[in-house]
Formats: sequence, structure tokens, C-alpha cells
Amino acid sequence: MNIQHIAVIGAGTMGNGIAQACAVAGFQVTLIDVSDAALARGLATLGKNLERQVKKETLTGAQAEAALARIASSTDYAMLASAHLVIEAATENLPLKQRILQQVAANVSPQCLIATNTSSLSVTELAAAIEHPERFIGVHFFNPVPMMALVEIIRGLQTDDSTYAQALLVTEKLGKTPISAGNRPGFVVNRILVPMINEAIFVRQEGLASAEDIDTGMRLGCNQPIGPLALADLIGLDTLLAIMEAFHEGFNDSKYRPAPLLKEMVAAGYLGRKSGRGFFVY
Ligand SMILES: NC(=O)c1ccc[n+]([C@@H]2O[C@H](COP(=O)([O-])OP(=O)(O)OC[C@H]3O[C@@H](n4cnc5c(N)ncnc54)[C@H](O)[C@@H]3O)[C@@H](O)[C@H]2O)c1
Repeated sequence: MNIQHIAVIGAGTMGNGIAQACAVAGFQVTLIDVSDAALARGLATLGKNLERQVKKETLTGAQAEAALARIASSTDYAMLASAHLVIEAATENLPLKQRILQQVAANVSPQCLIATNTSSLSVTELAAAIEHPERFIGVHFFNPVPMMALVEIIRGLQTDDSTYAQALLVTEKLGKTPISAGNRPGFVVNRILVPMINEAIFVRQEGLASAEDIDTGMRLGCNQPIGPLALADLIGLDTLLAIMEAFHEGFNDSKYRPAPLLKEMVAAGYLGRKSGRGFFVY
């Protein structure tokens, strides 16, 4: 199948970024969300991000306009009938995603591939929600999607070879670099990144170094572009805690226990940039 029309479910942070990347790469795009307000918010962000790319001269004005013209939006899943690939990027919640996937499967053509952008749920378990799980796969984009070059491709136990090959092809057409990851909590990148941040929080908790010195150490000693505690503030401490708890439960291994300081800061409402205070004050 020649994939030309991609539908994206969810117009939030990731959904509008994925829609933008697909439209810029020349795909026909349909963006779906639950309300016109959510779609309007997503499209406004997408428009601003395209403008930014034009200002940075990574796109011409004409290319940005052509990309916008390739995007349709709707609250109606019937719009999925002509899609060749549906990428689900809705709220991270298992029963909600299972419901959405069943609704998607009921509206697409028999050849259509279905993918999920989940960060933490099992691709195998999500695939089991639909009648043809062999046409289902995980494609994990990174935030902000238009800027980040990586996509993790995660096969569920049921995913067939042609679905996997098509997912690799689409990723490359988007100008991204795919890596293949197994279906375990956190896949590859978050599995390594988040426990590293959690360890930095243990180091802070033990009073071994100040937050500034921990970040300076990792920036200058490991060439990280941003220190782990500043990155924690950027991601959101509540999000990090949820991920560590999912690892702890998913692997049933105490090495993934969340740092008590992380739990206490979340309880205090010190969530990082979004609350104005985390390891640093904003
Ligand atoms: N934010 C990140 O950094 C990041 C990175 C990689 C992957 N992810 C994953 O991407 C997915 C989306 O995350 P996000 O940060 O964009 O969330 P978000 O909250 O910004 O957006 C979610 C969107 O889904 C919509 N939605 C909810 N129910 C829906 C339904 N029934 N039909 C259509 N749309 C519906 C919401 O209205 C909202 O617009 C999650 O699975 C998340 O784990 C997030």
C-alpha cells in the first residue's frame, strides 16, 4: 500500500506536532479530536509552529501554506474512511485508548494501518483491543515533534512484518530516524533517561551536591545539553513520578523505586516549570 493519507487522533501537544510533520512531508492529513475547541487550539499551535519554521528559514512561506492546505480537521471518526494510516495520539489512559482504537477500527478501510504514540502503555495490550492486531504498531515520537529526529518503532506481539516495514518507511518519509524497540515499559529512550533523572534526584536528596552543581556536572562532564534536574523541571515532576511508578510496577523491580524527594515535591505541588517551582525557581 502506498501511504498518502494519515489521520491523527488527538490534537494536543503530540497530535498537532505529528500532524504538522506529516503535512510538511507531503502527506494528506486529517486531525481528529473530541471538540471543535480542542481542534482549534491544536491548529492554532500548529500554525504558530509553522510560522516559526518559516522565520528560521527551515521552510519557505509557500511550503508552510501548502502544508496547512493538506490538513483537514474534524470531530467525526467517519473521516477516517479514506486514511491509509491512523496515528493515535490521544490522552494517555488505557481504557480511553482502547475505546478510541475500537472506534478507529470500526471506521477505517480493511487495509488501513493503525499506530499508537503511547509513551507507557503496552502496544501488545492496545493491539488486543482491535480485530486485526497484526496491522497495529507503536510509533513513539518525541516532543516537540517537528524538531526531534527520533521515532521509536515498537512491535506488539501480534504486529506483522508488512506493518513494521510500512511504519519504518513512513518514519523515513517524515525525515525522522527510526529505532526499533521492544514492547517493555519506557521502550528504550525513556527507560534509560528517566531512571537517570531519578538517580540525580537521589543525589540531591542525599545532599551530595546542590541542584546547580548536579546539573553543571552532567552538562560539562557528560556533554548533556541540559542538566537532569533542569530537564526534570521541563518534563514535569508529576509526569516523571508517574513514569517511575509505571516502571516500578511494570518490572516489579525495586531498582525503579521513585526517589522519596520526587514524591515529596509532587505532593507539595512543586512540579517544575509548569508550577513556577521545581528544583529551580521560574
Ligand atoms: N507530551 C509528551 O512529551 C509525549 C511524548 C511522547 C509521547 N506522548 C504520548 O502522546 C499521547 C498524547 O500526549 P499529549 O502530551 O499530546 O497529550 P495532550 O493532553 O496534550 O493531548 C491529548 C489530546 O487527546 C484528545 N482526546 C482525548 N480523548 C479523545 C478522543 N476520544 N478522540 C480524539 N481525541 C481525544 C484531547 O482532547 C487532547 O487534545 C499520549 O499517549 C502520551 O503518552 C507524549
